[in-house]
Amino acid sequence: MLSKKVEKALNDQIRIEAESSQIYLSMASWAETQGFEGVSAFMYAHSDEERGHMLKLLKFVNERGGHAIVSELNAPPTSFGSFSGMFKTLFDHEVMVSGKINDLVDITLQEKDYATHNFLQWYVSEQIEEEALARTILDKINLIGDDKGGFYLFDNDIKLLTATPDTNQ
Ligand code: FEO
Repeated sequence: MLSKKVEKALNDQIRIEAESSQIYLSMASWAETQGFEGVSAFMYAHSDEERGHMLKLLKFVNERGGHAIVSELNAPPTSFGSFSGMFKTLFDHEVMVSGKINDLVDITLQEKDYATHNFLQWYVSEQIEEEALARTILDKINLIGDDKGGFYLFDNDIKLLTATPDTNQ
């Protein structure tokens, strides 16, 4: 059984993951309107992954006797200025999410909820991967600078980085 404190913290994380999915969906749509198919496909896939993260939490809360809450979400931005700006936003967002996961892990220790603590280790590992991926992409973009040909190649390249959903592990 979840304590009220852990249940609330997990529900807060459900909202964060759902908002992440919306942010990346908005990035996918914006990139698509700019004609960048590879970037757009990457963001659509990333949005799906975040929905997977949200669902995994939601099911866990209900399985443990809590009530997972599907709440109203903050609207994401609709345009992102530049690709470098957009990927910087993605990186900063993932760093923020990692911080929230760490806070959540901390709460499970305070509450001596070792089952939830164990469950959250998957998210800890996932955040390491997501931050590393975002950093790799940012490094590539910084190398390209303002070179249009470079962006064309990058758009092709990023298809290879398009993550396969691995939320069922
Ligand atoms: Fe589910 Fe990218 O954090």
